Amino acid sequence: MFALEVVEAVANEIGADRVGLRLSPYADYLDSGDSDPTALGVYMAESLNKYGILYCHMVEPRMKLAEESFEMTESLLHMRKAFKGTFIVAGGYDKDDGNKAVAENRTDLVAFGRLFLSNPNLPKRFELNAPLTKHDRNTYCLPDPVVGYTDYPFLEDTS
Ligand SMILES: Cc1cc2nc3c(=O)[nH]c(=O)nc-3n(C[C@H](O)[C@H](O)[C@H](O)COP(=O)(O)O)c2cc1C
Repeated sequence: MFALEVVEAVANEIGADRVGLRLSPYADYLDSGDSDPTALGVYMAESLNKYGILYCHMVEPRMKLAEESFEMTESLLHMRKAFKGTFIVAGGYDKDDGNKAVAENRTDLVAFGRLFLSNPNLPKRFELNAPLTKHDRNTYCLPDPVVGYTDYPFLEDTS
């Protein structure tokens, strides 16, 4: 499989301990969807074990339904169990349910996308339980190098 060949080649070049892979088994953007995403995700997670890479990062199936965050019947638990290294999830988490996912051993780490985009010092805000700036969908992926990327205020700038 092409993805595994890439992992092997990169790991051989720079060392498996410097390689991580991010997968979105449930994504279906631009016809990328698979007929059996759970089986594919588990196959990938199992296959990656033999390379000893640093982490496997997967995007939650709920992200398939864009910005809505709600429970779906599919989950990454099968992949989490299949992969022997550090497992990272992303997709619709906030501080509390991220902590819960780690506490319940559903993942080792949680990655934040949109919250980090709109809150440049997100860890500090989490630490202080400070209010979060809402992300603005209208400024996602604009060609402007600043707008939507680096113009959100740091905690110090908010009143
Ligand atoms: C503006 C924007 C650009 C993104 N670009 C990518 C990308 O290039 N590759 C990718 O795998 N995910 C990309 N994502 C998805 C995020 O990495 C993340 O998986 C997603 O936003 C769900 O996590 P969240 O709920 O914490 O935001 C992007 C998300 C946003 C909002």
